[in-house]
Amino acid sequence: MQWHNSPARYGLVSILLHWGVALTVFGLFGLGLWMVGLDYYSSWYRSAPALHKAIGLCLFAAMLLRLVWRFLSPPPPLLDSYGPLTRLGARLGHGLLYLGLFAVIISGYLISTADGRGIEVFGLFEVPALVSGLPNQEDVAGLVHEYLAWGLVSLSVLHALAALKHHFIDRDVTLKRMLGCSR
Ligand code: HEM
Repeated sequence: MQWHNSPARYGLVSILLHWGVALTVFGLFGLGLWMVGLDYYSSWYRSAPALHKAIGLCLFAAMLLRLVWRFLSPPPPLLDSYGPLTRLGARLGHGLLYLGLFAVIISGYLISTADGRGIEVFGLFEVPALVSGLPNQEDVAGLVHEYLAWGLVSLSVLHALAALKHHFIDRDVTLKRMLGCSR
């Protein structure tokens, strides 16, 4: 399989980024839900949020890479068999997924940096707090982060259902080409 995208198929870089990001988003969502219920005496009380933040920042790096790669190696166009409504839905859905991903990550960053402290990434380096001290920053960003995370995961589920509908009902190659087997 080739690394770059072609007019007929996704290449390895886009496929790995797509599935890596998808797994990470669902994983971070689960981790987030679990960690907010931990009590002070749990051994994960501090390490789970630290892990959530470090993985979130790696996700941000992957999303930047994904955007750059999209520009360097444009994805294959939508299939000719799509009707106008499907085209609109796919473009809107993909655009919202990109937007939602960045919005969730940025709101999460703003929760952590509200008190002026940077974010440690696996003890390797620290991402500085560029924005802090806004009025009620931690509470507002926290609320926005929570609602956006639910919205993003719901949209991802709808997106996955659409991909499965293309595969099992329309029987086209939409899902196959994102799995790297378009024949
Ligand atoms: C958090 C989870 C997910 C996110 C954020 C996500 C995001 C995206 C985005 C932004 C695209 C547009 C192409 C691109 O620019 O890379 C895309 C394409 C695609 N996704 Fe996902 N995705 C997720 C999960 C899934 C799942 C679970 C499935 C399958 C069950 C799936 C199937 C597809 C397929 C088949 C395409 C290609 C559509 C086409 O070629 O027209 N995605 N995804």
